[in-house]
Amino acid sequence: MRRLFARALARPLVLAAAATAIPLGSAAHASADSIVVGGFPVEVSDSPWTVALSSRDRFGGTRAGQFCGGVAVGRTTVLTAAHCLGEQVLGSTPDQVDDLKVITGRTDLLTDQGQEVPVRSVWVNPEHDDVSNAGDFAVLTLSEALPAGSVIGMAGEGDPAYTPDTGALVYGWGDTSGAGDYANGLRAARVRVLSDAACEQAYPGNDDGRYLSATMLCAGQDAGGRDACQGDSGGPLVGGGRLIGLVSWGSGCGRPGSPGVYTRVSSVLRTLGWDTAAARQREGS
Ligand code: ARG
Repeated sequence: MRRLFARALARPLVLAAAATAIPLGSAAHASADSIVVGGFPVEVSDSPWTVALSSRDRFGGTRAGQFCGGVAVGRTTVLTAAHCLGEQVLGSTPDQVDDLKVITGRTDLLTDQGQEVPVRSVWVNPEHDDVSNAGDFAVLTLSEALPAGSVIGMAGEGDPAYTPDTGALVYGWGDTSGAGDYANGLRAARVRVLSDAACEQAYPGNDDGRYLSATMLCAGQDAGGRDACQGDSGGPLVGGGRLIGLVSWGSGCGRPGSPGVYTRVSSVLRTLGWDTAAARQREGS
C-alpha cells in the first residue's frame, strides 16, 4: 500500500499508538495495516512544541479540524511536512484554506484547552517531490507568538542524536490502528533510529518510496509494532532532547521490516540556510 498521499485525504494523519488495546506481544506479530503502534498517552506539557494543524473547514469540527502534526521551532515558526499542505490533502492550495491554524497546548482535541493560532503564511519546500517523498517539509509563520518555552531546538548535522540505535519519541494525534482510528489525545511511541543501510534495505525504491539518506532518516523497531501513522505527518521525532525528524511516510504502519521514514531535520536546516547556532537561538526565542 502506498504510504502517503492517497490516504491522507480520506484519513488525516498522525501518530500511532494502540498500546492500550493491544498487548505488545501481539503488536509485534501484527502484519498489515490492521495493527499499529505501541504508543502511550502523553500530556502536551511533556512536549509543548508538538502542535496540531487544523482546518475545520476542510476536515470537520469533531477533532478540532486536526489533520497533521507540526513542531514549533520558534515562537512564530512551525515546521511540518510539505505533503500536509499538498492538494491531495487539502483539496486546494494552502492559501485557499481560510481557517488554517496551529493548535498549541491542547492534549485532548475534544477540549478547548490551549490556544488556536492562525497561520499567517505558508512556505512549502519547492523541492518537495511527491514521488520519491524527498524534501518533505514546510514552514508556517504564525500570526501570534506561541508561549515561551514551547519551542524545541533542532539537531544539526553530526549531532549524536542521529547515531543509529539512539532512542527517540514520535508524537501525534494520528491513527492508532492503521484503520482510521484517530486519537483524540496526544500520544507518543518510542522507536530507535536505524542505520542508513537498514533504511535503504527496507525501502530500496518501489511503490512505497525510496529511502534517501541525505534528506531522510528512518526509525522503528526490528519487530515493528511501534510507529507513526496517518495523521501524524509533520509531527516531531525527538532524540536526545532535540528535533531530529518530521513524520513523513512509511509502508503501512508498524509493520516489521517497514520502519517509519522521517524528514531529516539537519537537511532542513541546510536547505533553509539556518545554521545550528541560529537553531539554538531559535530555541530560546
Ligand atoms: N504520510 C502519513 C501521513 O500523511 C504519515 C505516515 C507515517 N507512516 C509511518 N508508517 N510512519 O500522515
